Amino acid sequence: MNRRATPQPLDVRPVTDAELADWTRAVNTGFLRPPTVPDRMLADRRVAFAGSRVSGAFDGGRCVATFRSFDQELTAVGGAAVPADGISNVTVAPTHRRRGLLTRLMADDLAAAKERGDVVATLIAAEYRIYGRYGFGPATTMTEWSIDVPRAGLDPRWAGPLDGGRIDFADGEEIRRLGPQLHERLRRERAGVIDRNEHWWAARTGRLWLYGDAWVEPFFVVYRSADGVVEGMASYRTDEKWSDAKQPLNTAAVNWLTAVTPAAERALWHYLCSIDWIATVRTGWRAPDDLLPLHLPDPRAASITTQADWLWVRVLDVVRALEARTYAASGVSVLEVVDRAGLAGGRFLLDATPDGASCAPTTRDADLTLDVADLATLWLGDETVGRLVSLGRVREERAGAAREADALLRTSGRPWCPDMF
Ligand SMILES: CC(C)(COP(=O)(O)OP(=O)(O)OC[C@H]1O[C@@H](n2cnc3c(N)ncnc32)[C@H](O)[C@@H]1OP(=O)(O)O)[C@@H](O)C(=O)NCCC(=O)NCCS
Repeated sequence: MNRRATPQPLDVRPVTDAELADWTRAVNTGFLRPPTVPDRMLADRRVAFAGSRVSGAFDGGRCVATFRSFDQELTAVGGAAVPADGISNVTVAPTHRRRGLLTRLMADDLAAAKERGDVVATLIAAEYRIYGRYGFGPATTMTEWSIDVPRAGLDPRWAGPLDGGRIDFADGEEIRRLGPQLHERLRRERAGVIDRNEHWWAARTGRLWLYGDAWVEPFFVVYRSADGVVEGMASYRTDEKWSDAKQPLNTAAVNWLTAVTPAAERALWHYLCSIDWIATVRTGWRAPDDLLPLHLPDPRAASITTQADWLWVRVLDVVRALEARTYAASGVSVLEVVDRAGLAGGRFLLDATPDGASCAPTTRDADLTLDVADLATLWLGDETVGRLVSLGRVREERAGAAREADALLRTSGRPWCPDMF
């Protein structure tokens, strides 16, 4: 006789504080990390996740799926921040996959985010094909370079910066004190940047242990302009590697680097490329249009090692999303936004000028028909309407409408999200 057990219904719900250890074990299992969690890491996660919405699925009392979201601010084109639902720690145990658990957790979270009034939801996708079905579109690109230092053409007898500014080492306390203000400046200027709360700084300076191996202190450097203003800082680690012929072959790997002026950017990269013994600089997650290669006398010394989609965005409120950003020109565009989940779809008239925009539901004929995921891809300016029309993803309902929309939406710089979450 076939004695297969009848599957019990799975319990999908918010996680209690007492269940956080089991939930974290499930996260680690999903991300292929050792399942047990050191006590200190669990305690620190409890601190860092205090304001988060932590949910999961339970089978017989054991956590088999995980999901976390939290309040975030995302910078739109032009510098305004919109309230976002940041999504993270998404896993389903390999024993329970493809039974719709992610779909249930995501549907609950997006509905709640919409209800709260978040303009968008965001995440960093582990795999490209997971999130489009939920209305997310890739909205920023990440580029990582590897710099072959001897080829860069810089003077190895570094005595810079040559602009009157200076670079100094800093400790974690100084980074926690100076970093947040610098990041605030960055996020007022760059679309795609998200806010960093105190836990972000605590985790990057050894105060909180949230992920990975035990803390190893990196090097921190701060760039100040000739006026003494902090305009850049970086965190990097180095290895110790020598060739058999006693040649130094060390790498400086940048954990994060923030520069709010081209001078700071130039000074920090030149500094990193002129540290004795360093033969390679790995840049970490940079913007695809970083000035970096062109800051080097020989830009070909910087070769791209990774270029991929990074921040994914799900528009929850079309009107507020389109009104929050700025536009390069004046014009009107009627967008038919298709949203299978019924959260944000409809026909909207965007009336944009460089001085401000309004957006409202309309009954006028549509100029363009597009999926809500493609709207997200266009919203931060990392893609053009013309290309999406060519791909058959955006339908041009009136000849010339794509070109006109691109004239409104185009941006002079590409969006960038420097952070993983
Ligand atoms: C990705 C993951 C969360 C999906 O969970 P799941 O519960 O199996 O997902 P669901 O059953 O709700 O799947 C919903 C749909 O997405 C599809 N899907 C899920 N994961 C997919 C993937 N990696 N690639 C392509 N399609 C995927 C399913 O086939 C299903 O399609 P359907 O609706 O057409 O049938 C899970 O497989 C996992 O934990 N993977 C490892 C960790 C990970 O990548 N997490 C994401 C971090 S950003």
